[in-house]
Amino acid sequence: MKLPPLKIGKCESKFPVIQAGMGVKIGSATLAAETIKQGGFGTIASVGMGDPEEGKYNFIETCNKLFADEIRKAQQLCDNQAPLGINVMVAISNYKEIVETAVKEGVDFIISGAGLPLNLPEYVPAESGIALIPVVSSGRALDVILKTWNRKYNRKPDAVIVEGPRNGGHLGFTMEMIEHPETCSLDILLKEIKTSLAAFDCGNIPVLAAEMVSCRADIERMLQMGYDGVQIGTHFICAEESGIDRKSKEVYVNAKAEDVVIIKSPVGLPVRVLKTPLVQRVLNGERAKFTCPYRCLCTCNPAQSLFCIARALLAPHAGDTENGLYMCGSNIEAVTRIYPLKEFFDTLHGE
Ligand SMILES: Cc1cc2nc3c(=O)[nH]c(=O)nc-3n(C[C@H](O)[C@H](O)[C@H](O)COP(=O)(O)O)c2cc1C
Repeated sequence: MKLPPLKIGKCESKFPVIQAGMGVKIGSATLAAETIKQGGFGTIASVGMGDPEEGKYNFIETCNKLFADEIRKAQQLCDNQAPLGINVMVAISNYKEIVETAVKEGVDFIISGAGLPLNLPEYVPAESGIALIPVVSSGRALDVILKTWNRKYNRKPDAVIVEGPRNGGHLGFTMEMIEHPETCSLDILLKEIKTSLAAFDCGNIPVLAAEMVSCRADIERMLQMGYDGVQIGTHFICAEESGIDRKSKEVYVNAKAEDVVIIKSPVGLPVRVLKTPLVQRVLNGERAKFTCPYRCLCTCNPAQSLFCIARALLAPHAGDTENGLYMCGSNIEAVTRIYPLKEFFDTLHGE
């Protein structure tokens, strides 16, 4: 099967692949730019831009500056090719400022999840032409978004990403659903999503699947299921171009399926992670003593959290495997080595 291009609003790519904007600093300028060069949608993760030390006094300004620098770096690395976008989590406290920075820097699309992005259109003028792409895990969540965007802003999304229960990172499901993924599988979710889109007269927009895509056959499987493309996270973590330290990439390469566990994240959602030393301490109920220099998440209560997620997600960037939180998807065993991203995209050419 020849893979079709992906068209979202004014954006178009050769292959139906969006590189997930993985925080912190995995979905970096280098990974996004290389994805675009290879024929996909490149996405910069906006979460965790502010370093706990640097951002102590000027969190919002520091994040805006570092984030704008990252977008400009990506634009430069890929000679301003498109589509370059960003991922922004609803749970972050500087959501509005991050979105406004992305608009100012002229990105092509904005992906937003980890909560319902109900106010997203407010910060993105329709005239900007920037494609808006909410991330959902149920038809009900999409109904609420579509209803709100229609009523408050007279706007519609340009595409929707559907994250399944085996997805990497934060999960929009209850623990019971995660333990029984067959009850909320991507084919069940697609029906709900299509019904919801049709009810709001946006049945023609692309719907992307996010869960366990590691090779061309996985993309073809999703297309056959009825999706228009995929968003890939876990499999791109160990691309040479991704932003974390090599020692951290080796943690992913060496991980086995039995190392994957679900814990409760300070974001307020279950999160799929590797059982590294930090996670073992969390599972033992040990609480790391920390002070919160800024409230980076609306949903975190630092007095009750067992660890500081900002520090835990910055640690893999520095190669600190003892204190790092390594989010991952269920397809971890398909991550077998560190490789140049081009190798993956080379398999997508031809019939
Ligand atoms: C390490 C890691 C970091 C992630 N960070 C984010 C993030 O910052 N924002 C977000 O909306 N999703 C995030 N995700 C979820 C991805 O965007 C994507 O939907 C998911 O990885 C797809 O599933 P897969 O990992 O099985 O490919 C992350 C996933 C991983 C594995």
